[in-house]
Amino acid sequence: MSPRTNTAPVTATVPDTGTDTGTDSSKDSATAAALTTTVVKSDLAGPVREIVARYPKARSAIMPALYLAQEKYGHVDGTVYKAISELLDVPEIWVFEVASFYTMFAREPRGTFHIQLCDNLSCMLLGADHMRACLEHRLGIQAGQTSKDGMFTLSLVECIGSCDVAPAMMINQDQYSNLDEAKLTDILDQLTLGSAASLSDQGGTGGTGGTGGTGNEGEMP
Ligand code: FES
Repeated sequence: MSPRTNTAPVTATVPDTGTDTGTDSSKDSATAAALTTTVVKSDLAGPVREIVARYPKARSAIMPALYLAQEKYGHVDGTVYKAISELLDVPEIWVFEVASFYTMFAREPRGTFHIQLCDNLSCMLLGADHMRACLEHRLGIQAGQTSKDGMFTLSLVECIGSCDVAPAMMINQDQYSNLDEAKLTDILDQLTLGSAASLSDQGGTGGTGGTGGTGNEGEMP
């Protein structure tokens, strides 16, 4: 997937987004912001060591290490950059450059379901604007926002490689294509109820354990 908003690696100094407060916390449920560099290093040291062994240079492990951290904490921030830089013995700015370049890395908390709607040419010609309006109405948010219940984050992204079956979107790791209003309603209904596996192109996991409504169930503009 092409980066949308960051067209070149950032070369400025690493912003102080980390909150290395010394506060310990539950590993699996805590966000990166609540963790310390020490805890993150401890969490990631083993798997990162295995990853590094696959590459001739440790810096090649930056991206998979960021993935690991995101998977564990939900997003990545300054604490994670620092921990990874120390684990890989690379400058922290290198880690930040990778994290800020690729939109697949969340640098702030996202909802349980991250909806990435493609609004590039093929999808736009086949109804992406209407799909966006439907999603925004149903979720009660604008693109770039997260629903109040923390369930859904809606992002607009560049081409996700499904131009022949547009309009298309991704929800977490699952791809959904040939979208129309009815299909979108079904997907959101099932996510809200707990699973959209049967509706994703991959027959993947879709959602897990969704609860609660978003405010406009069953209605589309
Ligand atoms: S333009 Fe939307 S998937 Fe390619």
